[in-house]
Amino acid sequence: MVIKWKVPVIVTVAVLFFIILILIIIIVLFLPYNKGREEVVMETKEYKLSEPVKKGNMSLEEAIACRRSVRSYSEGKIEEKDISQLLWTAQGITDEMEGLRTAPSAGALYPLEIYIAAAMVEGIEAGLYKYNPLNHSLILKKYGDLREDIYNVSLRQDSIKDAAAVVIYCAVFEKTSSRYEDRAEQYIYLEAGHSAQNIYLQAEALNLGTVAIGAFNDKGIKRVLELTDEEHPVYLMPIGKK
Ligand SMILES: Cc1cc2nc3c(=O)[nH]c(=O)nc-3n(C[C@H](O)[C@H](O)[C@H](O)COP(=O)(O)O)c2cc1C
Repeated sequence: MVIKWKVPVIVTVAVLFFIILILIIIIVLFLPYNKGREEVVMETKEYKLSEPVKKGNMSLEEAIACRRSVRSYSEGKIEEKDISQLLWTAQGITDEMEGLRTAPSAGALYPLEIYIAAAMVEGIEAGLYKYNPLNHSLILKKYGDLREDIYNVSLRQDSIKDAAAVVIYCAVFEKTSSRYEDRAEQYIYLEAGHSAQNIYLQAEALNLGTVAIGAFNDKGIKRVLELTDEEHPVYLMPIGKK
């Protein structure tokens, strides 16, 4: 009798132990796996930008002669085609065969990555987007107006708060240092300068205002934009109506 009574208890304990073990395995392994899968299958939102124009109304000489840093902007939205034009001018592809772009790059390695925090742009929902030169498109990173957050980590410069959109130049230094080692840093800052001048001149030709901003808190920008460890902010350019 005693032995018969003890056997079911041991079996019950063993079964319970087995169930708990299975539950622990599910919690430890299965749930994180599913979470990872959700992230992987999450749809990427990519928006094709309108075709950039290659002929404008202002001559290059006029744009150079008139260019000024503009820090205050009138209210109102700018247009999607303006953003398309400005991003193309910054890093657009001008040689499909070789993949060469509007601005020069040491070894054609193209370490610059351009984000745009759109806020007051007709046809583009407020949010943070990454420019994809290959498709001339915007890849959505997150929705929302980020101007206030960027302003707070950029010495509270009003040009950022009042802009219709803010272009944020970032760079992946490893792309260039893998070939040029310790020359990479200066090459990247030079490249950002080439590209930013294109934006200055294109903005002038579109009758928009912009200013190159180097005074910001790197860690703050990284946090606000949720940049990856390899992406580093190098320049900001608010864009607005003159
Ligand atoms: C590397 C660099 C960093 C700059 N940073 C800022 C900045 O943080 N804020 C700002 O208002 N202007 C900034 N500027 C713009 C300069 O103040 C401006 O170019 C200068 O006053 C000359 O005026 P101009 O651009 O109208 O010719 C920067 C310019 C450069 C080249």
